[in-house]
Amino acid sequence: MPVNQTLQDGIAVIIFDHPPVNGFGFAVRKGLVEALEAANADPAVKAVVVSGGGKMFSGGADITEFNTPRAEQAPNLHDVIAAIEASAKPVVMAINGTALGGGLEVALAAHYRVAVRGALLGLPEVKIGILPGGGGTQRLPRAVGLETAVNMIVSGEPVAAEHLAGTRLLDRVVDSDVVGAAVALAAEVAGKGELPLVRKLKVEHPNAEGFLDVARNTVAAMAGPFPAPMKCLEAIEASFRKPFDEGLAVERAGFIALVTSTESKALRHAFFGERAASKIADVGSDVKPREIARVGVIGAGTMGGGISMNFLNAGIPVTIVETKQEALDRGVATIRTNYENSAKKGKLKPEQVEQRMGLLTPTLEFDALKDADLVIEAVFEELGVKESVFKQLDAIAKPGAILASNTSTLDVDKIAAFTQRPQDVVGMHFFSPANVMKLLEVVRGKKTAKDVLATVMAIAKTIRKTAVVSGVCDGFIGNRMIEQYGRQGGFLLDEGASPQQVDQAMEKFGFAMGPFRMGDLAGNDIGWAIRKRRYVEKPDMVYSKSADLICEVGRFGQKTGKGWYDYKPGDRTAYPSEEVAAILEKNTRDLGLAKRAISDEEIVQRLVFALANEGARILEEGIAAKASDIDIVYLTGYGFPVWRGGPMFYADTVGLYNVLAKMREFARGYQGQSWAPAPLLVELAEAGQSFTG
Ligand code: NAI
Repeated sequence: MPVNQTLQDGIAVIIFDHPPVNGFGFAVRKGLVEALEAANADPAVKAVVVSGGGKMFSGGADITEFNTPRAEQAPNLHDVIAAIEASAKPVVMAINGTALGGGLEVALAAHYRVAVRGALLGLPEVKIGILPGGGGTQRLPRAVGLETAVNMIVSGEPVAAEHLAGTRLLDRVVDSDVVGAAVALAAEVAGKGELPLVRKLKVEHPNAEGFLDVARNTVAAMAGPFPAPMKCLEAIEASFRKPFDEGLAVERAGFIALVTSTESKALRHAFFGERAASKIADVGSDVKPREIARVGVIGAGTMGGGISMNFLNAGIPVTIVETKQEALDRGVATIRTNYENSAKKGKLKPEQVEQRMGLLTPTLEFDALKDADLVIEAVFEELGVKESVFKQLDAIAKPGAILASNTSTLDVDKIAAFTQRPQDVVGMHFFSPANVMKLLEVVRGKKTAKDVLATVMAIAKTIRKTAVVSGVCDGFIGNRMIEQYGRQGGFLLDEGASPQQVDQAMEKFGFAMGPFRMGDLAGNDIGWAIRKRRYVEKPDMVYSKSADLICEVGRFGQKTGKGWYDYKPGDRTAYPSEEVAAILEKNTRDLGLAKRAISDEEIVQRLVFALANEGARILEEGIAAKASDIDIVYLTGYGFPVWRGGPMFYADTVGLYNVLAKMREFARGYQGQSWAPAPLLVELAEAGQSFTG
C-alpha cells in the first residue's frame, strides 16, 4: 500500500511510501485524499500527521507520469493540496527528509510543519524550464518572505531546514523523530480554534518595491535565453501584489506558457535524457556490478592524469603506470598543481590535497596493476602500442578485472582481441580535460560482458560523469558526428566565409565555442593526423583543403601561438589573422569558386543539420540506442546549447520535413555529395515523425 494510516492517541498518522523518492504518483495522491477523508470522518481522530516513508519526504511529481495524462488524473496535485487545506482537523506535516517541488508545495498546504534538521527544502522547477505550478510561487513567499522565496524559486536550489527555522514555513525543526514531534504538536493544537493556513498570510519585505526592481534586473541579466526565471519572478511578484487566488491564476498562466515553450521542452528532454542514458535495454537491475576498490591507469599524459583525478576525488586509490620516470614525474606534478590551484581558489582544503595525493601510487612497475579491479589505458593512440599494453595487462591483471581503453578512434573489438578475456574489455572514452568534462562515452564491444557495462555505468555515477553507451565505430558517437560538422565548416571557408564569421554564427546560436576557436584549443594537428589517415583509408571522403593548408604553415592552434586565429603570449583571445585570410582567399580562387555572401542562418543549418544527419546514421546502425543519448553526448561533451536540446531534438523542433528539404537544397550546391540524407531521416520526415518524440 502506498499510503498507510495508524492511530496514535487520537492522532491519525498517515505515511505515504512510493520508492525511490516518494513521488506523488496517482496511487499516492488517491491514497492521501482518501486517508484525509477517513481521518476527518472518524470521531476518534483529533488531528492528522502526514509524513513520507523512507529517507525522503517527497521528490515531488512522479517522473514516470511526466508528460502523460496520468499526471493530471484526479485526484491531481491541486486536489491533494485542496483536500489538505480543507481538512477540518489540524494537519501537521512531518518533513522527514528532502522535500522538493510538489513535495514542498503539499507540505505548504498544511496547517503546521515540523522538519528534521538537514532536510533539504526547495522548488527546483526552474531547472527544467517551468515554474512551481502547485501554488509554490504564492505560498512560499508568504511563508519565508519575499527575498528568500525569490532566491529559492529563481535559483531552484534547495535550502536545509535549519536555515529556515524561525520562518512561518517551519513551526519546529528537530534533530530526530520528526513524526513523534509532529504527533506532539498535533496533540497540542487539536481542538484549539481557527486553523492557520499559509494562504492567509501576508507577503513580507521591508522594502518590497525596491527589492523587486533590483530582482527584475538581476534575473533578466542571469536568465539569458531562458524564459522561466523571469516567469517565476512575475508569479512571485503577484503573491505580493494580488489576493491569493489571483496570484494562483498568474502562476497557472506562467506555468502553461512555459510548459509549452521550446526551451522548457529542451530542458526536460535533457533532464529525462540524462536519466535514460544510464539505462541499457538489455542490462537489467538483475545484473550485479563488480566491485571496484582499486583503479589502475596506464599513461600519465594529458588524459591519464585527468582520469586518475576523477577516482582520487571519489576516494578511490589509483595506481598510475608510466614507462619513463620523467613522464611519470611530470604527470604526478600536473595532478598536484591542479589540486593546489583548486586549494588556492578555496575549492579544496589543504589537507584534502594531501589526502587525494596520498591515494595515488605512481610507479614504473607494470606488475603493480595486478591488484586493480579496473584498469584504464591512456597511452599513445597507436594500435601497436595498445596491443603490447593489453597483452601485458592480460598476463598480469587479476581474474575479473575490467580492462578499459580510453582510445578515441581505435577499434575496441580489435583491442579486446589482444587479450584472452574480451568479455572484460570495454572502452571508456573520457573527454579533455578529463577531470572537468562531464561526458564519458562507454564503448560496448561485441563481447563486452553485461556486468562489465553495469559496473562502468555505476562507477561513472560515482565519479560524477554522465555516461552514454556507444557501439564500436570510428569516432564513436561524438567525434563521428563532429567530423561532419567540421567538414561543412571547411566547405563554408572554401565558399568564402571567414573562420570568425562561422564561429560567431555558431556562438550566436548558443555553442560555447565555434568550430575554429575549438580547433585552435584542441590542436589542429590532431585533425590533420586523422585526415591523413582518411585520405588513405577512405579516399571518397572529401574535405576542404583549408585546414591542411594552415597546418602546413605550422598553425596548430593556441599551443603554437597561431591557428585559425592569432594569439598573443599568455592571452587566449582569438584575433583574426591576415595570414589565414590570405591562405583562404587563395584557396577559394584555386578552387575556381566565386566568394559568395553566406548568411548566419545557412552556417547554422549546414553545421547543425550535418550533425543530425550523421546522428540519424548512428541511430540506424544501432551505435546509439536512442536519439536522446546522442543529444546528451552533445550537451555534456560538445557545448551544444542546452536550451536547444541537442542536435536531434533541435532537428525535431525545426521539423524533419524542413530539415530534409534544406538538405536537398544544399545537395544542389557546393560539395553537394556531402548531403546524402540518412535513410532514417527520410523515413521519419516522410512519415511526419521525429527522432525524439
Ligand atoms: P599523451 O601523449 O599526452 O599521453 C600518453 C602517455 O602514455 C605518455 O605519457 C606516454 O609516456 C605514456 N605511455 C606510452 N606507452 C606507454 C606504456 N606502454 N605504458 C605506460 N605508459 C605509456 O596522450 P593523451 O592525449 O593523454 O592520449 C592518451 C589516449 O587517450 C589516446 O588513446 C587518445 O586517443 C585518448 N584520448 C585523448 C584525448 C585528448 O583530448 N588528448 C581525448 C580522449 C581520448
